[in-house]
Amino acid sequence: MKLTFAAPGLPETGVVAVFVLEDRELSASARLLNDRLRGALVRAIEAGRFKGKRDQILSLPAPAEGPYDRVVLAGLGKPGELDALRLQAVGGQIYAALASEGVKAAAVAVDAVDGAELAPAEMAAEMAFGAKLRAYRFDKYLTKEKDEDKPSLELLAVHCDNQGRAKKLFAPKEAVAAGVHFTRDLVSEPANVIYPESLAAEAEGLRDLGVEVEVLGEREMKKLGMGALLGVGQGSERESQLVVMQWWGAGKPEAEDKGKKAKRARLVKPEAPAPLAFIGKGVTFDTGGISIKPSAGMEDMKWDMAGSAAVIGLMKAVAGRKAKANVVGVVGLVENMPSGTAQRPGDIVTSMSGQTIEVLNTDAEGRLVLADAMWYTKDRFKPKLMVDLATLTGAIIIALGNEMAGLFSNDDDLAAKLTAAGAKVGEPLWRMPLGEEYDKLIKSEAADMKNIGNRGAGSITAAQFLQRFTDGVPWAHLDIAGVAWAKKDTGTVPKGGTGFGVRLLDRFIADNYERE
Ligand code: BES
Ligand code: MN
Ligand code: ZN
Repeated sequence: MKLTFAAPGLPETGVVAVFVLEDRELSASARLLNDRLRGALVRAIEAGRFKGKRDQILSLPAPAEGPYDRVVLAGLGKPGELDALRLQAVGGQIYAALASEGVKAAAVAVDAVDGAELAPAEMAAEMAFGAKLRAYRFDKYLTKEKDEDKPSLELLAVHCDNQGRAKKLFAPKEAVAAGVHFTRDLVSEPANVIYPESLAAEAEGLRDLGVEVEVLGEREMKKLGMGALLGVGQGSERESQLVVMQWWGAGKPEAEDKGKKAKRARLVKPEAPAPLAFIGKGVTFDTGGISIKPSAGMEDMKWDMAGSAAVIGLMKAVAGRKAKANVVGVVGLVENMPSGTAQRPGDIVTSMSGQTIEVLNTDAEGRLVLADAMWYTKDRFKPKLMVDLATLTGAIIIALGNEMAGLFSNDDDLAAKLTAAGAKVGEPLWRMPLGEEYDKLIKSEAADMKNIGNRGAGSITAAQFLQRFTDGVPWAHLDIAGVAWAKKDTGTVPKGGTGFGVRLLDRFIADNYERE
């Protein structure tokens, strides 16, 4: 779907959407439209339950009193509660209402709302962002679907005051939406299509945006001593990969560039800030390995690489909008399979950090992958902070359901910044505890640690395990097992892969680390 911004006002014909505030208060354009339709809008509202509340939509086909093919009334709720998130949801709802009705092109009239914190241009940009986020569907394998059953909307024209500013505000948001869509694509692809090497190849596509991408194979990882990550992948026919993505939007520190060319081009700045590092779990399929999972629902484990997909989508977003920040993304890509070469329960592996791990359950594999990816990241980049994302534990779904991701951190300031960013973008985080008593639960008799705890506190013991590979760097872990995949549509997120983490971390970077 294409989005355009246009001068304020209502088109004379076609399909139009206008806003109504709570308690049936029509926006200026809605009033004008109502006059043109000789009161049909007010009559329709009074004849039904639509009151302009949040999440309410009323779609009227071809009101007889006028030349319009369809009029959509979108509820904005209370003016005092009209923030960016609400407008994004409205955009998503308008998109969904139009796309399911067979509408190909439509206009939305955005008017100023008394008592709202956002000006019309800002409202328009947020609304457009929401529509763009919702306009996603993974349907490439539906070869027999009829055109008439597909989402129809091709063009949405957003009319508002100061449309030039709206367009400018929308540009970086569009880059973020592209990152979210990319993540959703990667998460939705089945495991016969997306496996470590093909996922690495997708990441390599980011070079077009100016991201430096390196791919390490098993030979290189072996040299680095990544026994924990390699152990997980050793049962698979597919070669494990580690992908390193770098975006130096705030200047490249000297240590990171030995090239004379970059120096001459003044890309190298000795005072450049240390990068922010994001690390993703990329288990392209998790059978559980020899500790094999039950077959019911195992297909879900194609999205056990959602953490890595979020990191890749984040890199696309920050590069796409040319963020003035230094950002490094590292993803560990493996397939966890049972086979004659697979890791066995009881095996002891040595991680890159030198710490040994007794692998008591081969299904607790994400932490093994992250252990080496995190150590590598902190060793090589000396990052200002590290945030990892992983569909790490089923236990986090028991704790938080599908509404919030679990946040674990060794740094209160970092935790607060992430929580604030999540709240702003509608990807909420709930902080969970860490502590010495929990750490004791992964003590092993045979090695420096074991990869599982007891039955209780499964998400926390997983996080304690990760913390042993942070070496004191400010770090946060987002357990996204409950939020990476949605079973139902919501405002800006259609069902399927959600792209959770991209918007959150993009906002976290923009709000805290980008210079004016
Ligand atoms: N990928 C799973 C976690 C998961 C489960 C994600 C359900 C999404 C939905 C992870 O690798 C795993 O298997 N974790 C085990 C850990 C246990 C063996 C300690 C789990 O949560 O059961
Ligand atoms: Mn597992
Ligand atoms: Zn897993």
